[in-house]
Order: sequence, then structure tokens, then C-alpha cells
Amino acid sequence: MKRSLFSLVSLLIAYALTAPSAPAAPKWEFNLKNETSGIVALEAIVVSPTLVVFFDRASDDPLQINNHSAWGALWNLETSTVRPLDVLTNSFCASGALLSNGTMASVGGDPRGFVGNPAIQPGNQAIRIFEPCASPTGDGCTLFEDPATLHLLAKRWYPSSIRIFDGSLLIIGGTHVNADFYNIDPENSFEFFPPKESIVRPSAFLERSLPANLFPRAFALPDGKVFMVANNQSIIYDIEANTETILPDIPNNVRVTNPIDGSAILLPLSPPDYTPEVLVCGGTATDPLDPSLLSSQTPATSQCSRITLTSEGIAKGWEVEHMLEGRTMPELVHIPNGQILITNGAGTGFAALNQVPDAIGNSNADHPVFVPSIYTPDLPLGQRITNAGMPNSTIPRLYHSSVTLTPQGNFLIAGSNPNGNTNLTVPFPSTFKVQTLDPPFMQLNRPKILSTPKNLKFNSSVTVPIDLPQELTRPGAKVQVALMDLGFSSHAFHSSARLVFMDAKISADKKSLTFITPPNGRVYPPGPANIFLTINDVTSEGAWVMMGSGNSPPTLE
Ligand SMILES: *[C@@H]1O[C@H](CO)[C@@H](O)[C@H](O)[C@H]1NC(C)=O
Ligand SMILES: *[C@@H]1O[C@H](CO)[C@@H](O)[C@H](O)[C@H]1NC(C)=O
Ligand SMILES: *[C@@H]1O[C@H](CO)[C@@H](O)[C@H](O)[C@H]1NC(C)=O
Ligand SMILES: *[C@@H]1O[C@H](CO)[C@@H](O)[C@H](O)[C@H]1NC(C)=O
Ligand SMILES: *[C@@H]1O[C@H](CO)[C@@H](O)[C@H](O)[C@H]1NC(C)=O
Ligand SMILES: *[C@@H]1O[C@H](CO)[C@@H](O)[C@H](O)[C@H]1NC(C)=O
Ligand SMILES: *[C@@H]1O[C@H](CO)[C@@H](O)[C@H](O)[C@H]1NC(C)=O
Repeated sequence: MKRSLFSLVSLLIAYALTAPSAPAAPKWEFNLKNETSGIVALEAIVVSPTLVVFFDRASDDPLQINNHSAWGALWNLETSTVRPLDVLTNSFCASGALLSNGTMASVGGDPRGFVGNPAIQPGNQAIRIFEPCASPTGDGCTLFEDPATLHLLAKRWYPSSIRIFDGSLLIIGGTHVNADFYNIDPENSFEFFPPKESIVRPSAFLERSLPANLFPRAFALPDGKVFMVANNQSIIYDIEANTETILPDIPNNVRVTNPIDGSAILLPLSPPDYTPEVLVCGGTATDPLDPSLLSSQTPATSQCSRITLTSEGIAKGWEVEHMLEGRTMPELVHIPNGQILITNGAGTGFAALNQVPDAIGNSNADHPVFVPSIYTPDLPLGQRITNAGMPNSTIPRLYHSSVTLTPQGNFLIAGSNPNGNTNLTVPFPSTFKVQTLDPPFMQLNRPKILSTPKNLKFNSSVTVPIDLPQELTRPGAKVQVALMDLGFSSHAFHSSARLVFMDAKISADKKSLTFITPPNGRVYPPGPANIFLTINDVTSEGAWVMMGSGNSPPTLE
């Protein structure tokens, strides 16, 4: 008996040692897509199921067009290649968004030119239009600019812009001229594109948040108002009444906007109440005016602050939690299952270039953070952030980086250039490497949305055909349907990024999905969206739809 048990155990051990190993469990991974994005992708916006617009400053980038360096490009998600875009105005530190009619508008930028690149016109009043592009490769699709007749009311470098409830853009703040660090010549006002009036709207909030109020972080709330945070100040702006309501400061002296960059995100909105909650992470706990703190070695904060934007939530104030490490210039990006990706940035220092006495090469920041984390909003405080199973990148992504969720369901990560122009000889060089961060489901059989109507009406029930892998058809599976704006990535912020969950049901035969669209354009501003179906954390590719009529802004349907 003893003996036979022994042989059985030996047999099992022998089997374990010789058996073919089970397939590795799927995991998050970084994948390098191309070493040469041609321009530094310091801004990125997905404009079609296959195309991403990249913008850089007008500089000495290797990608050429019309015998000069390009500073705009179209990245092809299918082939991982770029083609140059002809840009007239300097798009350095601009922002942008998609409008209700599907057109991309990029606004603001650098007033200066660049020696050796004669074509450049000042960008600080620019409006750059990229109409919806039907060609998967971008054939025939170009930018439209007419600086003489189509321009902003005010000069704005480092502005933010978000799509609001009527499908137009609210454009926020900026500086008139070169701001090496602080906002020393501010445009403390709001305006709209298309314009709603012939003069700008002055903002007391932007005055109060000087000198570190570039690229304010702002979100269209489900009642049509707008939340904003800059420096350590926050408000709700009522567009229709033109009034500002002051909210509590970010706690513990933490500052979160350029050049002291944290990031912020509107957490996923869910029916029936769509209660808005904002999460702000990273930046630095510092007095912005104390020069002794301006060092590449000043630790960034690990603080995340979260607030619920109801009267009770505002009365309660910001709830504080901590990332696993300090990060300046972190990126917060929605994952279609409702979690938040925290990636990029540095452990110490600041945004911008050559403004600290101990710059690393030209970088005001040091100690790049290479391992992303995941934030799970509905876990209890203190348990929401983890990097278990997350991969380690080797590419520093510091100032002038971009990240976006793609319609394929993974994350495109590019850029980083804390330098004056192209500089390949410093510790943190101009970076042309494009990588993706692929969630585990990229290695699995995924649900498919087989087709969708082109336009979806608000507050309506929509049924679409789907195809599910057998293993995702079991009873009790967790089904989530997300309507998403992928945002415009610039300076550690994703303008207009949004995730609205929709009530949804899969048919008994597992062949169709029925979901209820958001009630109106305040919950999801009318415009392009991707619909992702997630079953037990396995996410489909995005289905590209137009939420609403597709009318040009302003539109209420
Ligand atoms: C580019 O330069 C070449 C050689 O100097 C010239 O033949 C060509 O016409 C130029 N192309 C454009 C678009 O200016
Ligand atoms: C990278 O992009 C360039 C420019 O579009 C292209 O020529 C090259 O083939 C791409 N490389 C890879 C590995 O895809
Ligand atoms: C916000 O910043 C102001 C100006 O620097 C400072 O007086 C105030 O104490 C800060 N608020 C908090 C909560 O740290
Ligand atoms: C790169 O930056 C270093 C540090 O400032 C500087 O010495 C060098 O001249 C720069 N190279 C170029 C090509 O600008
Ligand atoms: C990531 O890689 C760096 C060096 O490339 C190493 O110092 C660090 O410990 C790694 N971190 C993790 C969490 O694996
Ligand atoms: C949405 O539609 C339902 C009927 O389908 C109606 O009862 C409800 O009032 C509508 N809501 C809005 C916000 O229009
Ligand atoms: C969308 O609206 C903008 C702003 O009015 C306009 O510039 C653009 O041409 C429109 N695009 C389409 C496709 O109608």
C-alpha cells in the first residue's frame, strides 16, 4: 500500500515534469509598434476606426511634407505607419475635440515660427478642421485652415477645450505668448467654437488659479454644467447662466495643472442617475511661488482626490487616497469595463523644459514611472489601486507624451520630448517610438458587435447583432455596454474623454444585444462615440457610431 502510493506520487511528479506546459494566462503587455512616428506625438486624437491625428510643434521632425518638416500626421492603427499632414499654423500645445457633426477641431497653439521651416503661421488663434474621413488609410483627407477668416476670438496657447451639451466646444484659458513655466500673460476667459457671442467671457476662477493654470482639467457634467480644476482650485461653471460656483480646494496643498501637472478624469457615468464623480491624481504638493522647490528632484505627490458632484458630495469634500508611487504628468484613461488606467509620468520634478537649475538634459522631471496601475472606482477606499500583473515599460514617457484608448480596445502610447527641438543626445530624448499597452483580452476570443446603425437617437432602445465566443455565453456573466468618447490627449489630460454605461440585455439566443442610449446630450454630448461590449472583463472592439443627429453644432439632438 505504502509502496504503491509512493509510485503513484513519483508518477505524478514525472508527469508534471514532462507534460507540455499549460498556455500562459493572458496578461497585460506593452508592444512596440513602430520606432518612427515621424513627428513627436505630443497630441493624439482618434478620428476614425483606423486613424489617429498626431500633432507636434512646428520643428525639425524627420517626417517631411512639401520639402519641410511635418508637424501633423495621421497614424494608421491597422498598419502602424504614419503619413504627414500639411498644417499651416503651429500646433504646439494646442487642444481639441470632435464636434457633434464628427469633425475634429484643434484650437490654439504657439505664436512662434521655427527657423528653417518657412511655412509656419502663428498658432495661438488657430482653428484646424479635420472633416470626417471615410478612407481607412486617410486618402484624400486633409486639414482645413483659413487663419484670416476662421480663428479664435482670443490668443490661446495651452488652452483646454471640451465638447458640451450642444455639440460645440467650450475653450478654456491659455496664455498669449511664450510661457516658459508659469502663466505670465494669461487669457483668463472662456469662448466657444462655433462662437456663441462676439466677445470672450472673463473667468474669476482662472484669475484665482494663476500662476499654474495652463491646460485646466474640465468635464461636461450630466446636467450640462462644467466642472473645472486648475492649480488647487475647483469650480462648477454654469454655461447657460454664465456663473461660477466655488468648490473645495484640492487638499494638502497639491497642485494639478501645468507646469505642476496632475491629471483628472470623470469617472464612468451609470444609469439611472448618472451621478458625476471626479478623480484627480498626481501633481505636486508645493507652493508654486517658492523657487527653492523648483528642482528635477522634488517628489511628485501620490495623492488622488475624489469628489462626488452632488450637494451632499460637495459638502463632504474631497476624499484622499494614494497611488503606489508619486507621479507628475500621469495619464488617467478609461478602460471600457469602468476601471481607470494610470500610466506614464515621472516620480520627481515638473512639466516644461529647462526651468529648474538641475534639469536632466533639458527635462524638468526625472525618475520616469514605468509600471502602470489600475484604479477600480467601486472598490472600497484604500483598495482601489493595484499594479499586480502590470508590465514594465522601458520607454520614459515624460513631458509631451500622449495616450489614447483605441477602437481596437487597447491603448496607443507615443511621444515624450522634454527638449527644445529634436534632441537625441540627452537622457530623455525626443521619442518617436509608438507602443501599445494591450489588456489581457487582446489574447482571447472576444465578443463582436456585428453591425450598428450609423446614427443613434438619444433615449432610445437599440438592438444590434452580436457574436459571442462559447465561453462567454454562460448564465450569470457580467455584461457591460459602454458608450465612449476616446478624448483628445495633450499634456497629461484627455479632453472630452467620457464613459457612459448603458442598460443592456443579451437575447436568449445570444445573437443580439439591446441597449438604451443616454437620455440626452447633457449625459453624452452629441457626437462620435465607440460602443464597447464587455463580458466578464473581455471587451469587444469598439463600434463607431454617431450619438445624436450628426448635425453641426449647436444642436440639441
Ligand atoms: C522639393 O524640392 C525639389 C528639389 O529642390 C523640387 O524639385 C520640388 O519641386 C520641391 N517640391 C515642393 C512640393 O516644393
Ligand atoms: C514605421 O512607419 C514608417 C513610416 O510610416 C514605415 O515606413 C515603416 O514601415 C513602419 N515600420 C514598421 C515596423 O511598421
Ligand atoms: C490652495 O492654494 C492657495 C494659494 O497658494 C493656498 O493659500 C491654500 O491654502 C491652498 N489650499 C489648500 C487646501 O491647500
Ligand atoms: C540637446 O540638449 C543638450 C542639453 O541642453 C544640448 O547641450 C544640446 O546642444 C542639444 N542638442 C540639440 C541637437 O539641440
Ligand atoms: C521595471 O524595470 C526597471 C528597470 O528597467 C527596474 O528598476 C524596476 O524594478 C522594474 N519594476 C518592476 C515593478 O518590475
Ligand atoms: C425617454 O423615453 C421614455 C419612453 O420610452 C419616456 O418615458 C421618458 O420621458 C423619456 N426621457 C427623456 C429624458 O426624454
Ligand atoms: C462641422 O461643424 C463645424 C463647425 O461649424 C464646421 O466647421 C464643419 O465644416 C462641419 N463639418 C461637417 C461635416 O458638416
